[in-house]
Amino acid sequence: MSYNVAIDGPAGAGKSTVARAVARRMNLIYVDTGAMYRAMALFMIREGVDPNDAAAISEKCKGADITIGYENGEQVVYLNGENVNAFLRTEEVGRMASVTSAQPAVRKKLVELQQALAAKSDCVMDGRDIATCVLPNAQVKIYLTASSKVRAKRRFDELTEKGISCDLAQIQADIEDRDYRDMHRETSPLRQDKDAVPVDSSDLTAEQVIERILEICGQSERS
Ligand code: DC
Repeated sequence: MSYNVAIDGPAGAGKSTVARAVARRMNLIYVDTGAMYRAMALFMIREGVDPNDAAAISEKCKGADITIGYENGEQVVYLNGENVNAFLRTEEVGRMASVTSAQPAVRKKLVELQQALAAKSDCVMDGRDIATCVLPNAQVKIYLTASSKVRAKRRFDELTEKGISCDLAQIQADIEDRDYRDMHRETSPLRQDKDAVPVDSSDLTAEQVIERILEICGQSERS
């Protein structure tokens, strides 16, 4: 049986930074499931699908073949054979992903892919439903949170550093909207699994969070 670490939590809690570092230090592969939902959202945007049309999303997702690979240790997402990593991190794609990921047909397709990956490789997988739905038997389950104010400030700093002008209050409002959608959708809403260890990163540096998670992993059995 493979060794799996599940990290769930809301947008902007620092999951991907921390999950990538934990994977590297434990010599596991890192699976970023949000990137898969983003690739699906990119497909819907390119196909001109109306985000309010649930039936169209369910039907269209059959035409999206999403796979992942690794180049220089980094996860690469392929959408119908094309490396789409460069297109996944925009606000537009993030917003669309929050809507399209609520569709059961989309989730079924991507969860199957995630389960197959975790069955064949020891990995750290991050997302919203990893502990509750994708990997209920994961050896380690972490629920990583931070206040919406702190998450908005981190995103604001990130965008400002890239020279992108943005509004802090708007970013916080977007984050809270996304949290609400992720936590209240009918299929696999974001919630803390009963076995998950909560880690609040609001007042911690990334390094402190990484060390805390490594410590939690160290207390679990790795066969
Ligand atoms: O973590 P992220 O911002 O890259 O995720 C993009 C969207 O995909 C987000 O709105 C939540 C959704 N998502 C999900 O529903 N389930 C996952 N396992 C991962 C992400």
